Amino acid sequence: MSRTMVAGNWKMNTTPSQGASLIREVMEKVGTPATRVVFGVPAIQLMQAQELVAGHTNYALAAQNMHQEANGAYTGEISAEMLTEVGIEYVILGHSERRDYAGEDDDLINVKIQRALEAGLQPIYCCGEKLDIREAGNQELVVGKQVEQALYSLDPDQISKVIIAYEPVWAIGTGVTASKEQAQEMHASIRRMIANQFGTDVAQNMTILYGGSVKPNNAKELFDQPDVDGGLVGGASLDADSFAAIILAAG
Ligand code: G3H
Repeated sequence: MSRTMVAGNWKMNTTPSQGASLIREVMEKVGTPATRVVFGVPAIQLMQAQELVAGHTNYALAAQNMHQEANGAYTGEISAEMLTEVGIEYVILGHSERRDYAGEDDDLINVKIQRALEAGLQPIYCCGEKLDIREAGNQELVVGKQVEQALYSLDPDQISKVIIAYEPVWAIGTGVTASKEQAQEMHASIRRMIANQFGTDVAQNMTILYGGSVKPNNAKELFDQPDVDGGLVGGASLDADSFAAIILAAG
């Protein structure tokens, strides 16, 4: 299976009617994509969005979060089983906004990843360094620690279902994108770590996405890097023309 994927993370944007129009428009512009396309929609839209993509080759949905327990007294939360029962295939975990605003760390994210996998969801695991870490040149060390804490306890079958999204925090929503060289360097480093821990086959088959101000004008040069398999796109995934152009840049 090809490693390429383009996922949109809408975050807390779009009402249900706006979301349905956006999905329809993207699908109309792109047709059947050559790469996997995932819409990361707000929780309230997941069921309606699933009906729109069901049966369409290479389209799927991601939840933006889920709780680590299977069920229970957790007001306001959503479980992995609730997602899989309505056909959701992916869940974004460890996004820097969840780390910053909901206090999530890699230990908790590790538990969520295991729960997601048990339920049959594919986690899109986000990691990435903040600006001060990059300026100090410690990005590989810090991202390496995140990957180690979140993923090393998985078994070979579990890790083969994980997608990693490298998202330098300084590039998220800022309009400042990592250069293609910076992205490639970090992706190669992550793939080396996965190879050392889980073997070359797992590493070679793993999808590693880049996220952080991906736009139509920089997508192709990023996706052309040998270890960049596509993108996790925030702002530009909210505009049908831009998201369609980014999908087409992936192949
Ligand atoms: O999950 C997506 C990332 O946070 C990137 O967002 O494309 O708006 O920078 P952005």
